[in-house]
Amino acid sequence: MALRVRVCRSEDIQPGEVKGFSVPGITVPILVTNVDGAYLATSSICPHEHVSLLRGRRSGLKITCPAHGYQFDLATGACSHDPALNLPRYRVSIVDGDLYVDLIGSLLS
Ligand code: FES
Repeated sequence: MALRVRVCRSEDIQPGEVKGFSVPGITVPILVTNVDGAYLATSSICPHEHVSLLRGRRSGLKITCPAHGYQFDLATGACSHDPALNLPRYRVSIVDGDLYVDLIGSLLS
């Protein structure tokens, strides 16, 4: 069973923007971005040494961690510097303009 949480209105994240959200009761902060109209959600915590990716540099589908420069693909979660690291991703859905993220039970692999 999924834990679907509403995080914002879809128009709150314009193309190219990266925003962070905290969900009450959920310890993992969420990063949501808009890549040319496609919404992507991941953990906002770098799996290398647990630094926030919200101050990272985004270019296309890639985000670069501000701490050590590891780069992650926001669509696949893959790390280009260490194949053992993977950025958790979450399914996004839009219902009546509200953006929802599935945090449990539907993690994308
Ligand atoms: S903490 Fe992100 S690359 Fe090291």
